[in-house]
Amino acid sequence: MIILGLDIGSSACLFMGHTIVSFCQEERLIGLKKRVNLFPREAVKWCLEHNNISLTDVEMIAVSWDCTKYPFKMFKPLLIQKMRNKRRYSGKKPDSVRTRSVNAAIEYLLANSPSTVRSLIRDNLRIMGFKGPIPEIVFVSHHLSHAYQAYYQSQFKDSAILIADGSGEENCISAYSMKNGALERLFDYNIPESLGWFYSAFTAYLGFIPNRDESKMMGLAAYGNVRQQHNPWIERINHILSITADGYRIHPGYLKFGGNEYHPNYTDSLVDFITSYDTDLYPIGLGEMSEQGNKYLLEKYVDVAFAVQLQLERAVISLARRLVSLSGLRNLCLAGGVFMNCKANGSILDNTDIDNLFVPPAASDEGACMGAAFYVAKQEGVSISKIKDYNTLGPRYSNDTIVRILKNNGIRYELPSDVYESTAHFVENTKTVGWFRGGLEIGARALGNRSILANPFSKGMKDHLNNTIKYRERWRPYCPSVNNEYADNVMRHRAEVPFMNIARGATQYVIDEAPDVVHVDNTIRPQTVDKKHCPNFHLLLDRIGNKIGAPMVLNTSFNIRGKPIVCSPYDAISTFYSTNLDKLVLEDIIVHK
Ligand SMILES: [Fe+2]
Repeated sequence: MIILGLDIGSSACLFMGHTIVSFCQEERLIGLKKRVNLFPREAVKWCLEHNNISLTDVEMIAVSWDCTKYPFKMFKPLLIQKMRNKRRYSGKKPDSVRTRSVNAAIEYLLANSPSTVRSLIRDNLRIMGFKGPIPEIVFVSHHLSHAYQAYYQSQFKDSAILIADGSGEENCISAYSMKNGALERLFDYNIPESLGWFYSAFTAYLGFIPNRDESKMMGLAAYGNVRQQHNPWIERINHILSITADGYRIHPGYLKFGGNEYHPNYTDSLVDFITSYDTDLYPIGLGEMSEQGNKYLLEKYVDVAFAVQLQLERAVISLARRLVSLSGLRNLCLAGGVFMNCKANGSILDNTDIDNLFVPPAASDEGACMGAAFYVAKQEGVSISKIKDYNTLGPRYSNDTIVRILKNNGIRYELPSDVYESTAHFVENTKTVGWFRGGLEIGARALGNRSILANPFSKGMKDHLNNTIKYRERWRPYCPSVNNEYADNVMRHRAEVPFMNIARGATQYVIDEAPDVVHVDNTIRPQTVDKKHCPNFHLLLDRIGNKIGAPMVLNTSFNIRGKPIVCSPYDAISTFYSTNLDKLVLEDIIVHK
C-alpha cells in the first residue's frame, strides 16, 4: 500500500509496502527554519520523486490533524477562547465583543473545516502540477498520530504511550497503553489545560519566540540551579500549574484564555501575577537587552525559567507515574512538542518505575505525519513493519553527484584512501569538520549525518564554535556523541539515547576533561551511537577514539544560527565557505580551504 503522510504545515512522508520509506521536513528543502503553516510542497515532491512514483500511485493521503472535529466538538472551546481574548478591547460594549468573538470563532472553524483543508491540499497539489484524481484524504486525530508515530518508531512490543503538546484538536494530554497490538486510551486532558501552552507562555514572557525557542528557555533554566534554595518562583508557580497525585491542574486564566495586551501566548493576568510580586519582572521584548546583555540573562528571569522547567518536569513525572501504574507496562514512549524537552525526558527516566524510554527523533508535529500514515495503514489491514533504519529516510547524495557539483563550481577536492582516518586526524588536531554523510536526519538534532564535529577535549572549542561558526548564544550547551560501548564513562545512569533527546547526569570524568559538552547544571544531552544502526558514524568515533583516547566527539548541527540543518551538498558548501569551518567532508570526499 502507498500512503502519503502530511503535516500540512511542516513535513511529508511516504509509506510504501509495510513501513515509512521516506520523510522530509519542508524547512530543510527551502532553507527557512521553522517555517510553519507552509504546505510542504517540496517535501511531497521529494518523497514521490525519490521513490520513482507519482501522485497517481498514491492510494491515500493521511493528514495528522482531524479537521472533522472542528464543525462540532471544537466550536464551544474556541468560542470561549476568542471571547475572552477579545476583552482586551476594553472600550467596546459586551454585545459587540460577543459578535466579533463569534465571527472570529466561525472564521477559525471555517479555516480548519474539512472542506477548506481538502481544498488547500488539492490546490497545492494542482499548483505542483499534478493532474488527474486526487487520492482519498483521511484526517487522523492528532494525538493518535503522535501515538502511532512514537510506538512504530520504537522497537517495543508492548508499551505505555504518553502524548503532550500545545493541543491536538481538543486534546492536550493523551495516555495510552499498547498491548498485543491493541491501543487503549487510559486518560486525557483537554484544552485549556495545556502543558505546551504553559511552557510557551513563559518562553514568550522571557523574550523568546514561542513554538520555536522552548529549547532555549530549557537551557537557560539550568543557570538557576545554584539558586534554587532561594528561588521564590518555585512556590509561586503553583498558582498557575499545580501538581497532583495523578497529574496536574492548570489555571487557564494565565495562559491563552483572557485579555492579552502584551502577547497572545500569555494574558495580562500573568503579567499582574508576576509583577505584583516583583515590579522588575515585566515581560521581555524580543531581543531586549540590559546592561549585562540579553535581558533574560538577569538572575530574576533565570529563576522564573528554572521554576517553570522544574514544574513542567514534576507534571510530566506525575503523569508518567499514573500511566505506568494504570497500564502495568514498563516500556514508555513519549511524543508531542512537550517531549522535545530533553531535560524533562531525562527526569521521567530517572523518577518513574520504567525499564525503557523511547522518544522519537521528531517528537513534535513534524514527525506526526508518519504516525498518521501508520494509523491509516493499520486501519486498511496492512501488516506494519517498524522503522529500523533512520539513515535512509531523508535526502542523500552519491559521491558522483557531489563530485559533479564541486567540479561545476570550480571547487578543488580530495578523495582520500580512508575518509574516517582523515577526519579523525582533523578532529585530533582541533580542526572543525562539517560532516555530511548518508540521509538527512529526522528532527531537530544532528546525529552524525549533517553534523559539525570537533574535539571535545580541546580547551576553548565552545567559544571558537560560537564566535566563528555557529554564531549562537554563548550560554547554550554543546552535546557529545559517544559510542555505546563507552557511554558509561560519560553519563551517570546510562541509557540508550540514539536521538540526543534525553538528558543525563554527566560523570566527573567528562565534567573535568570535556567541560564544553557539559551544561552548567552538570547534565549532558548525549547521543549514544550504536554500531548496528549507525555503522559509519560508529566507525568514525572508533577512529577518533584511537587518536584522542575516547570514542567521543562534540557534535552540533551543521547550520548557522537561524538557518535549518543543511540538506544538500549546495547547502553544506555554502555554509562551509560562509563560516570558519576548517574542513568539509561530503560522503567520501574532502574539501579543504
Ligand atoms: Fe502535536
